[in-house]
Amino acid sequence: MKVNQSFSIKEELKKDFSYSKGKVLSSMNCEADPFAQDVFRDNLEKNLGDPALFPGTMNIEDHVITILGRLFQLPSSGTGVILSGGSEANVTALWAIRNNKNLNLETPEIIVPESVHISFDKAADLLKLKLIKVPTTPKYQVNLEAVIESITKKTIACVGVAGTTAFGTIDPLNELNKICLEHQLDMHIDAAFGGLVFPFLPQSREKFFLSFDLKSVVSITVDIHKMGRVPIPGGGLLWRDNIYPQAIQFTLPYLAGNPKQITITGTRSGASTIAFASLWNKIGFKGFQKIVFSCIENTQYLAEELEKRGLSIPIKPPINILGVKIPTNFPLNVFELHRKLWEQGWTTTIVNGCLRFTIMPLTRKAQLEKLLLLIDHLINNV
Ligand SMILES: Cc1ncc(COP(=O)(O)O)c(C=O)c1O
Repeated sequence: MKVNQSFSIKEELKKDFSYSKGKVLSSMNCEADPFAQDVFRDNLEKNLGDPALFPGTMNIEDHVITILGRLFQLPSSGTGVILSGGSEANVTALWAIRNNKNLNLETPEIIVPESVHISFDKAADLLKLKLIKVPTTPKYQVNLEAVIESITKKTIACVGVAGTTAFGTIDPLNELNKICLEHQLDMHIDAAFGGLVFPFLPQSREKFFLSFDLKSVVSITVDIHKMGRVPIPGGGLLWRDNIYPQAIQFTLPYLAGNPKQITITGTRSGASTIAFASLWNKIGFKGFQKIVFSCIENTQYLAEELEKRGLSIPIKPPINILGVKIPTNFPLNVFELHRKLWEQGWTTTIVNGCLRFTIMPLTRKAQLEKLLLLIDHLINNV
């Protein structure tokens, strides 16, 4: 293949959006905290896949697992790992559940709500699992009766979501847990996004049961590169018990000390782990809570303002993800509004027929006021 001499990396990069303008409302990632960026830059060479060379970074990973574990009442027998993101965490979680069960079933079944992230489809394909997708209620939470009806002799686990990708909703984890206990099923919770939101909300523990206190919960996904405000890549996976990672453990014969690995990737960046540990040391629970409160406040502000303009909010946003329905009598339909916003540099997505906004830490209220002015302008100039 010939190299195109006129190809300019600088010119290509100009085509990219930047989180820094606060106009990206379509992503579950955001600009990392500036301090976390500095720490990340100082630690680019750290490789969690090579513990003999980076024993200190390994200890920092343990420290991060302890910090995350406290948010979900991880028992002292618990463990965890920082990996490339929510997808790898979910695939790894199902991999460990499948191997640990060791039932000799031809196609073990996993029950998931239809709201699950696409990473579960990938996991099922890779692991030769059958994904049984059950419908959600009008509140976009898993339908528990459908879960019960879907259980067969081949079912090995159920998945609950805490912070659905579409609307940020959370499944009735307590009830799901009861079903899993009754049928001796493992439960995995995907809190890739919501895991660093729900624990900071008042009463969320009682309300939402996002916790290892639910005895069937064997693993929880929680990403540090989404609401954890560190640069990518940074996913997280917590396990109730070491037997789960042990079920997917491989020994590396070519590295010093023959380390055991429990991740799909061998080489694993340690930079985001160190950045998260440092950010947590700096701002702590209270600092993260402040960020979460501000995101939620901004989300509620946007929801109320859009309602005033005749748009409807079919699902009250429990966290900082907002789905907006455009009524048929509105001057623009969802595709037109979506396109016109993108033309002005405001990125949103369309999910389940709704215009979807993720209100991340960098998006300020002043920024949303500008967005609303633009929407007013678009409405008045159709
Ligand atoms: C609920 C949920 N789980 C998993 C993922 C996958 O995370 P990643 O993109 O880090 O692989 C996402 C991504 O948005 C998500 O929303």
